[in-house]
Amino acid sequence: MRLDKFLTMQGRYTRAQAKALVRQGRVIVDGVTAADGGMAIDPTQCAVLLDGEQIAYCDQLHLMLNKPAGVLTAANDPRHRTVMDLLPPYCAALSCMPIGRLDLDTQGLLLLTTDGTLAHRLLAPKRGVEKIYEAQLDGRLGPQDVEAFAAGVALHDFTARPARLEILPPGDRARVTVCEGKYHQVKRMFQARGRTVLALKRLSFGGVALDASLAPGQWRELTEQELRTLRGAAEGSANG
Ligand code: URA
Repeated sequence: MRLDKFLTMQGRYTRAQAKALVRQGRVIVDGVTAADGGMAIDPTQCAVLLDGEQIAYCDQLHLMLNKPAGVLTAANDPRHRTVMDLLPPYCAALSCMPIGRLDLDTQGLLLLTTDGTLAHRLLAPKRGVEKIYEAQLDGRLGPQDVEAFAAGVALHDFTARPARLEILPPGDRARVTVCEGKYHQVKRMFQARGRTVLALKRLSFGGVALDASLAPGQWRELTEQELRTLRGAAEGSANG
């Protein structure tokens, strides 16, 4: 791996900053001041010091992003801003990827990870990992809707698994808990009940809640506790 890439990924610098640090003679690799950001290093073997402090090598990253509406859940796209555009470049360099997708107009909790196995497990239908959404509808909901969601709403190509619907005041807002994640799932479930979703926000995934202090577009790394919760959710119903 190039030294400047290592500094970008591990030191959370931009590539330009990383090159400047090397130029300024502030980076030492295995006891020798680095002269070229392009030098090849083995990050698992080398000791890289910046201003005398060793930079630890860690290629694992787990994030939560408060996805704004109008941003695409994709690695790149010629027309739309993507969620990766909201994150510093080292996230893409580490292949930190979204766990599933939110629609372009959906906002709220999007998790991203470098751990492909964890992502795969969290998305596997048989594991039934819970996601909670808040929806604004075009009209009032009633107890029949709660019952229909609990029974499993029939859509034209499949019947949704039982879901929990809580109607919120003044009656045209709801919190929905689903344990599957098919395309437009929540919107289609409401559509099947004669309602249109005007706005949708994900509040939680696998027991990890959106941090209320994150404004749309902001992100942070998951805490150890959140990561444990997520790993627990991924293992949860693995026998199912
Ligand atoms: N259900 C939807 O309809 N859209 C989303 O973005 C997520 C769940």
